[in-house]
Amino acid sequence: MQNIDERIVRNIVESLPVGLMVISPEGDIVTHNAALCSILDLDEEKLSSASWAELFIEDVDRNTEFNQVILDVIERKTVGIRHIVAYEKTGVKRRRLCITSSFLQEGEALIGIVFLIEDVTDKYDMLEKENNYLREIQGLQSERLEGLNKLAMSMAHQIRNPLMSIGGSSNLLLKNLSLDQRERDLFDSIIYGAHRLESIVQAARAFASIVEPRQQEVSLSKILRMSCEKASAFSVNLGRSVAWEVPSTDVLLQVDPDLFEKAILVLLFNSIEFSVENEVAVSIGVIEQDNETLISITAQGIGVSSEDIPYVFDPFYSTKPDGVGMGLTVARRIVMEHGGEITLTSVAGKGATATIVIPCSNSNSNLCSLP
Ligand SMILES: Nc1ncnc2c1ncn2[C@@H]1O[C@H](COP(=O)(O)OP(=O)(O)OP(=O)(O)O)[C@@H](O)[C@H]1O
Ligand SMILES: [Mg+2]
Repeated sequence: MQNIDERIVRNIVESLPVGLMVISPEGDIVTHNAALCSILDLDEEKLSSASWAELFIEDVDRNTEFNQVILDVIERKTVGIRHIVAYEKTGVKRRRLCITSSFLQEGEALIGIVFLIEDVTDKYDMLEKENNYLREIQGLQSERLEGLNKLAMSMAHQIRNPLMSIGGSSNLLLKNLSLDQRERDLFDSIIYGAHRLESIVQAARAFASIVEPRQQEVSLSKILRMSCEKASAFSVNLGRSVAWEVPSTDVLLQVDPDLFEKAILVLLFNSIEFSVENEVAVSIGVIEQDNETLISITAQGIGVSSEDIPYVFDPFYSTKPDGVGMGLTVARRIVMEHGGEITLTSVAGKGATATIVIPCSNSNSNLCSLP
């Protein structure tokens, strides 16, 4: 006769809303509860008398994923991972099951494997509906964005031609006419205005022509090395030089190398341009944490006041006398297209740190994504 403790344990097991099954190291079903019978749609008698292999492997073609998860746990001891798999039985609606597993041990010895099997069909269907809805919204948004990009590109194109003729004609007149100083100054300001407008149009074109990233596995060290070389050349043009501090270890990123280099270059150029000294020390840090890679770029310089910080990513915001103010806007768009984030922190008068956070690729596509 069962003692009272065993009866209590049995009651708890039977009242669990999830299916429970314990399999011996040899593959026999040692125990299970009633919820398991109803979730797997198997009768009590069959579950009590059969081994795991007889029950589940028999329907190889239909429940491959389900069988594979159980097999992996038993043979490869891959416990502790949540899997969502499809489960089918003739005459019953296709279900989605969430399987978790753990070892049952006595001292060092393995005496069984515990499976918890939950029917998550309703949650899964709801999530699917939500995902479809989100995909629809994303589709509409990207259609709108594409329309705006096309508009920006064609406006830039239309503005560029008259702008060239304003600049070109003014230059010609300035050369050919005999003008007094005041008239020369007026022509100079027309030419300067035409140049400014051309830079703005070019920046708008560059922003509108950012393509969808073609992500691939790339070495961050390689991108940083090439970016630093280009930024060094840029610094020479400004009569400056850079002392680089770059991490010695490498990280692999899932990014579009050309686009990502553009974003990094914006941050390096800013570090050089907003330095107070002609010798600039730029330090690049890389940290990997929680499925993300953090890339920080720090340099001493004039910095940004806390009142101005909220505007630095706005289009055409610039504190440079001839600045267009699209560098950080472009960098942010590129990082966001990669599913990441970018921030700028600064202490006015001391310097600034720009940080990119980029998600790592997830190769375990069959892992649980439900809350
Ligand atoms: N490292 C930095 N140090 C100090 N200020 C910065 C730094 N990076 C950005 N800023 C501030 O943010 C503004 C916007 O930067 P952004 O790169 O978008 O434009 P810009 O450099 O002014 O012009 P450009 O279009 O030529 O890049 C800058 O004008 C400056 O005020
Ligand atoms: Mg800039």
